[in-house]
Amino acid sequence: MRMYDIIHKKREGGALSPEEIRWFVSGVTEGSIPDYQISALMMAVYFQGMTREETVSLTLEMARSGDMADLSSIPGVKADKHSTGGVGDKTSLIAGPMAAACGVKLAKMSGRGLGHTGGTVDKLESIPGVKMDIPRERFFDIVRETGIAIVGQSGSLCPADKKLYALRDVTATVESLPLIAASIMSKKLASGADAILLDVKTGSGAFMKTQEEARRLAQLMVDTGNGAGRRTAALITDMDMPLGRYIGNALEVREAVEALSGGGDRRLGALCQELAGGMALLAGLAENREEALNQVRGTLADGSALGTLKSMIAAQGGDPAYLDDTSRLPLSPVCVEVPMPESGYIASLNAELCGLAAMELGAGRETKEDAIDYGAGIVLAKTKGEYGEKGEPFARLYAQTQAQCQRGLERLLAALDITKERPSMGPLILERIGLD
Ligand code: URA
Repeated sequence: MRMYDIIHKKREGGALSPEEIRWFVSGVTEGSIPDYQISALMMAVYFQGMTREETVSLTLEMARSGDMADLSSIPGVKADKHSTGGVGDKTSLIAGPMAAACGVKLAKMSGRGLGHTGGTVDKLESIPGVKMDIPRERFFDIVRETGIAIVGQSGSLCPADKKLYALRDVTATVESLPLIAASIMSKKLASGADAILLDVKTGSGAFMKTQEEARRLAQLMVDTGNGAGRRTAALITDMDMPLGRYIGNALEVREAVEALSGGGDRRLGALCQELAGGMALLAGLAENREEALNQVRGTLADGSALGTLKSMIAAQGGDPAYLDDTSRLPLSPVCVEVPMPESGYIASLNAELCGLAAMELGAGRETKEDAIDYGAGIVLAKTKGEYGEKGEPFARLYAQTQAQCQRGLERLLAALDITKERPSMGPLILERIGLD
């Protein structure tokens, strides 16, 4: 086979055969195809798209390009959840333990934050002592013992995706539905779960800016997962405003503990119940959505969900006492209070700009090598839909320096839109695909 012919076929709108896709992915993994030809094919796919069959083939080949986790030695149904990324999204830390407390097994491999979106690995590492690079057998033991373990993605998971993603990132070919679907789903398939629940975000803080785009991506990923023999479903959820009221790594751990204690932000709590209930339903532990939701609410009421998170933290080397008293978690030393600049309702709070504000404070990273400040971030006293008088507290910023706070403040105020009329609030959960 010749790479030239494959690029030419796709450029002309043809569908690649499974053999051509297998040859391409193995060439990417071995390093035998030059970057310029890989990039040319990515651009051709960007313009011409891929059929469902091509997308499933690409996903499977990428999944098989490295280690495929075999979770069969862990008893029970293994489930996983994946969020397409957002601002203030700490749902894995809340919905994961809730689902595990219902009997779902979660052997979860998570990523670090990049750009304006956060990552679960960084949030957990903000708890002193917690380890994210745990040897495979110990990782499985923790899942057997506590129902859940969350580790960082190993270097041998989907090497083809690492190469393709790095090239897409610098050749303006990230925003292609089949390429995004194959990238996300290959990692999920290689992680080994039997059931996969996707949280596809839409809105200003998300990759998919419109609901229509999010629906197409969600349906494609659900079809790809089911086509590969895994029970897969998706929620399409709003990411027009930050999720919850805390943005920043250790701050988000605080909010997760608040939610697992039955308090905290109502929308965040509702989404976590849907995600945990969705995993319980896909795992066959409930007959219908209502029954699944009742089960997960029970894990909040009896404290078992919070207990499960504490057991996981202890098993991964952390001190669960930090979760009993979250004021001991890292908090950056410089704090700036941000008052409401005028009286009125918060009509919008642009999630992407809030994420960028948190980055200015030191909570995020621009490149994979950047260090982050675990104690930096934003606490929102008010969020979209709420009323405040001029001068009332709107937010608190935490960083290492006044200069960082000043830059964060400018970004945060740019995210804020205040009106005299009460704004209408759209639903948080916009659609459910394959979860009826
Ligand atoms: N997340 C991924 O893992 N891959 C993409 O292509 C986009 C988002």
